[in-house]
Amino acid sequence: MLSKEQNDLLTQVGPNKPMGQLLRHYWMPIAGESEFEALNTKAVKLLGEELVLYKDLGGHYGLVDRHCVHRRADLSTGMVEAEGIRCHYHGWRFNAQGACTEQPYEDTAFPQLNAKSKIHIKAYPVQTKGGLIWAYLGKGEPPLLPDWEAFSWENGFTQIVISEVPCNWFQCQENSIDPVHFEWMHENWGNRLRTGEVKFGAKHLKVDFKEFEFGFTYHRLKEGVPESDEAWGIGRVCLWPHGFFLGEHFEWRVPIDDENTLSVSWKYTRVPQEKEPYVQKSIPTWHGPVFDEQGRAINTHVMNQDFLAWMGQGVVADRTQERLSASDKGIVMMRQRFFAELEVMAQKGQLKGMITQSHQNKAIPLPMVYGHQVTQSRTIEEIKSHPTLYPFYKSYVFQAGQPERVKQLATQALGLEVQDFDGIVVPRQS
Ligand code: FES
Ligand SMILES: [Fe+2]
Repeated sequence: MLSKEQNDLLTQVGPNKPMGQLLRHYWMPIAGESEFEALNTKAVKLLGEELVLYKDLGGHYGLVDRHCVHRRADLSTGMVEAEGIRCHYHGWRFNAQGACTEQPYEDTAFPQLNAKSKIHIKAYPVQTKGGLIWAYLGKGEPPLLPDWEAFSWENGFTQIVISEVPCNWFQCQENSIDPVHFEWMHENWGNRLRTGEVKFGAKHLKVDFKEFEFGFTYHRLKEGVPESDEAWGIGRVCLWPHGFFLGEHFEWRVPIDDENTLSVSWKYTRVPQEKEPYVQKSIPTWHGPVFDEQGRAINTHVMNQDFLAWMGQGVVADRTQERLSASDKGIVMMRQRFFAELEVMAQKGQLKGMITQSHQNKAIPLPMVYGHQVTQSRTIEEIKSHPTLYPFYKSYVFQAGQPERVKQLATQALGLEVQDFDGIVVPRQS
C-alpha cells in the first residue's frame, strides 16, 4: 500500500512532475518506421506533451511541437519539405532542431530584419533502431539509445504492434514483474473463457526477483518443473524503466499522459531453415485494437488480457487501497527503485540503466529464458511437430487484429500458413 503522495509520484508524468522528469532521461519508442511508408506526419502525445512526428522529403525524422509557434495551427497537417516541416497556415518552416528556417511573408517584405533567426519551436531528438522510432524528451545531450542484441538477430520475421490503452503507465509496467498473473490470467482464466471448464493448471510453487543493471528478473518454479528449468534459473526481464523482455519479444509501456499508455511491442519470429537466408526489408507496424465493436475489452489474446487487467485497476490504480502480498515482492522492489532513482535524480547522480559509452552499446544481451527456442534454426517439419513452438508460428497469439497484409507477409516469410488465433496455446513455462 502506498500513500496518495507516493502514488501520485509514481504515476504523474508531466514535464513538471518528478516521475515525468525521470522518464525524460530515457528514450521512448513512439512509432514504427514502416508507418512512414504511408504517411509523413503523425500526431503523437508523449509524457503529456502534444507533438508531431514527421519524416521529411530528405528522409529525416523530426519531432516538434504539435502547434505552430506562430498562431498555433496544427503541424500534424503541415507539409514536409526537403528539410523540415512547413506550417500549412502561413508557411513558416521549421527544421528538426526547432529552428525557423523560413518565414515567407517576413522574409519577402523585411528581409533585412531576419526575424526568423529568433524563432524556435519545441523540438526533440529522434533516432531509429529495430524498425522503431524513438524519442528523447530530456534536456541536453541524450544517452545512447540501447542497442539490445535482439535488434541484430538475423533470419527473423519481425512485427511491431502499437495500441493505446486508457490507463496510467505504471500499472502496465507493474505487470512486467508479476509472474503469478500468468498462471491465473493467461492460463486459468484464459482456459475458462475458451472452454468454460473449471480447471486449473500447474501452480507456482515459488517466485523470486533479482535486480541487475538494466532492470529486474523474475523467476518462477511451477509444479512439475525441475529447479534446473530456465524459468527459475534465468528468469524474465522487467526492463528498466518501462519495458518487458520475454525472449522473442519486447513490450514497452510508454506514457501518453497520466491516463493513457502506448503499448509498443516488437516480436521476432525465426524463419524456418528452408527460408534462410532471410533479410526483412521493412518491419510491418500494425495497430492492435483494445476494444471490440461493442466497446468491450477484447479478452482473447495474451496482451489483450493484460490490457483488460490494467484497465480494470482503474484509470490510475489507487494504491492507497491495495493489499500487497508475497507474490508482489518484485513490485515492491521496483517501486522502491523508482523512489530511490528519483532521489538520485534530485542529487544529479548517475541514473540506472544509462548507456554512455559507444563500445558498450553493441548488441547488448539480456537474460533470456529458452533462448535456443527463439533463435535456433529448425525445418518447417520440425516446427510443425513442436507442441509448444508451433502455436506461436501458426498465428499471432499476443494481440487481436493482425491485419490480413501482415498475415500474408508472415506466411510468405515463414513458409507456413499464418492464420487467425484459434485461442489454443500450449503453455510454455513463460
Ligand atoms: S500558424 Fe503556423 S505559420 Fe501561422
Ligand atoms: Fe500477461
